Amino acid sequence: LLPVGIIGTGKYVPERVLTNQELEQMVDTNDEWIVTRTGIRERRIASQVQASSDLAYEASKIALANAGIAPEELDLIVVATITPDMAFPSTACILQEKLGAKKAAAFDLSAACSGFIYSLANAANFIATGTYKYALVIGAECLSKITDYTDRNTCILFGDGAGAVVLGPVPEGRGFKAFELGADGTGGPLLKVQGGGSRCPASPQSLEGKQHFIYMAGAEVFKFAVRIMGGAAEEALRKAGMEKSDIDLLVPHQANIRIIQSALQKLSLSEDKCMINLDKYGNMSAASIPVALAEAVEGGRVKEGDCLVMVGFGGGLTWGATVLVW
Ligand code: ACO
Repeated sequence: LLPVGIIGTGKYVPERVLTNQELEQMVDTNDEWIVTRTGIRERRIASQVQASSDLAYEASKIALANAGIAPEELDLIVVATITPDMAFPSTACILQEKLGAKKAAAFDLSAACSGFIYSLANAANFIATGTYKYALVIGAECLSKITDYTDRNTCILFGDGAGAVVLGPVPEGRGFKAFELGADGTGGPLLKVQGGGSRCPASPQSLEGKQHFIYMAGAEVFKFAVRIMGGAAEEALRKAGMEKSDIDLLVPHQANIRIIQSALQKLSLSEDKCMINLDKYGNMSAASIPVALAEAVEGGRVKEGDCLVMVGFGGGLTWGATVLVW
């Protein structure tokens, strides 16, 4: 297998900021509860005319420039999202047209908050086997469009944004060392958007029942996340033949500060070895990890040769972790 790694990163978040104070005016909640229970202070919200492909496009342009790769050189585009522009065509095809990435194959991947790690694993394998040379992998979400802003259990958590990476060949010794992906379909009912699919097509009844919004059994998902985050990261490290003490930076899914802290404890890591930006953006599902990675790179927190671990969990239920030497 050929060594493959990340050769460019980029992120985009919408301008509109939704603060905890504004949410206090919308539902029965308060800043103190949100900050202590989740760590979130504000999140970004897409405009009425912005869809996930628009956010993905902005992040992708930056990642491509960062990598020094032209859109025409891309062989593959994978978009991880649970908020595609529409059921089909895929958001990846819409993005391919926007970028003018004429020779790229394009598809969306659905694994909720684990979608970015699942997509990395997919694209990396195409390059490692020599099928393709350059791939663009994006996590892009407009969760605000499927969030019920009368439900305090969910509306405080979610935000919109996109993070993109370009994958390509890297020197021997660097790049992805291991992936750990998993799923537990028995937990599917804990986290879902039921309406709009073939089980429960859009109808006046589905709208009335708010079935096009995110439903989440928060406490159950929390317990799962605490169990799986550290475990998935440990398993990826084991496959890579590396130790917890080798980690230079952990880039976890940004769902809840308490979930991240439990993962840090399990991995015996201090908070300074962890990228945390959920205070600014909340949970952006598939976009959380790539946006955090792009900010870590922008902030000079990632140096050549560093060992990065990215780990996420989400609807499905799903989880994913990867070990990467930068
Ligand atoms: N403001 C004030 N009070 C609230 C709010 C709110 N926004 N939300 C809930 N409460 C209340 C509850 O009603 C409950 O009151 P009660 O004890 O009188 O019944 C109390 O606060 C405690 O509620 P819990 O649900 O036990 O609170 P918890 O500490 O579990 O925190 C939270 C809730 C933040 C949702 C947490 O469970 C969590 O983070 N879960 C994981 C969510 C997650 O990571 N989802 C990822 C999925 S993303 C994807 O795949 C799309």
